[in-house]
Amino acid sequence: EKENGDLFSKSFQDIISTLPKGNSWGFPDHLLQYHGFWHSSVFLQGILSAQQQFQAQPADIILCSAPKTGTTWLKSLTYATITRTSYNDSTSPLLSKMPHDVVPFMELDHAHFSTHRHLGIPVLATHMPYSALPKSVTDSGCKIVYICRDPKDSFVSLYLFLSKYQKSQNMQTFNLEEAFEQFCQGVCWYGPYWDHVLEFWTASLEHPDKILFLKYEEMRDDTILYVQRLAEFIGCPFSSEEEEKGVPEKIVKMCSFENLSNLEVNKNGKHRVGGAENANYFRKGKVGDWENWLTPEMAARLDQITMQKLSGSGLTL
Ligand code: A3P
Repeated sequence: EKENGDLFSKSFQDIISTLPKGNSWGFPDHLLQYHGFWHSSVFLQGILSAQQQFQAQPADIILCSAPKTGTTWLKSLTYATITRTSYNDSTSPLLSKMPHDVVPFMELDHAHFSTHRHLGIPVLATHMPYSALPKSVTDSGCKIVYICRDPKDSFVSLYLFLSKYQKSQNMQTFNLEEAFEQFCQGVCWYGPYWDHVLEFWTASLEHPDKILFLKYEEMRDDTILYVQRLAEFIGCPFSSEEEEKGVPEKIVKMCSFENLSNLEVNKNGKHRVGGAENANYFRKGKVGDWENWLTPEMAARLDQITMQKLSGSGLTL
């Protein structure tokens, strides 16, 4: 396995040396453009490894999203829904583990050893664009759940997440206006944001039985309804007895921002060596917080790009 790893790493170096380099948002490594999307080299290595090795099974559920669109929340809701007959709202591993530790990322946690599946439950997450998903994911009957969010809130969430991380590493933080410019140009992790959303949107229209397309704002508005839809889509609908007992409500409450962000593990834990602190994944959890960070001109510019990019798609954000 080590030898394979070395060979992979050499061919990876060959690949990345040819890729266009983008801005680095103040980090030491430039983002690299691969098949139309921007990636850090670590994530890109995970993507290529997953593409080569990950074998999806028909019963798998793959949670997909661009960064900072509600991934952590979707992971917790899906995990709690699937494991509801094994655990309840006082025994769930979600009370002592960070959602990213119960549902790993395909290209980060799993890809490097993905010949061994070892999935406790058949749920994995990824930020990969639809066009980059391992072939077995799109070819097998497995289900995909995608979440997206107003790009203004996603940008603000991303910028503040990275700034906090940079501060924690004693790095200089990147300037908000410069980050905004890069985001508008599509140069951000897994960006352009709009292309990411559109690929999944188009695929969800073509394969509605295979891809459930969700919006953060709508889920915030009526989480119980969307958890019921999610449960049905992934093949474990709530029974009328469960609904009478308020099981969906209990799951929603357990996975709420207020509850998860106040758990010890999410207040003071750290989930990956060298990674961000868990608390950094739970900032505010509000719709429209962009108003506190973007000028009206910046907001209008992002809205304009969104309108242009999504025009004719039938999707609004
Ligand atoms: P804000 O920075 O706007 O607060 P991701 O999980 O994809 O990294 O997205 C992070 C965003 O989701 C953050 O948004 C975070 O606060 C919010 N979030 C995390 N847990 C949540 C929850 N249980 N309910 C609603 N939003 C949540």
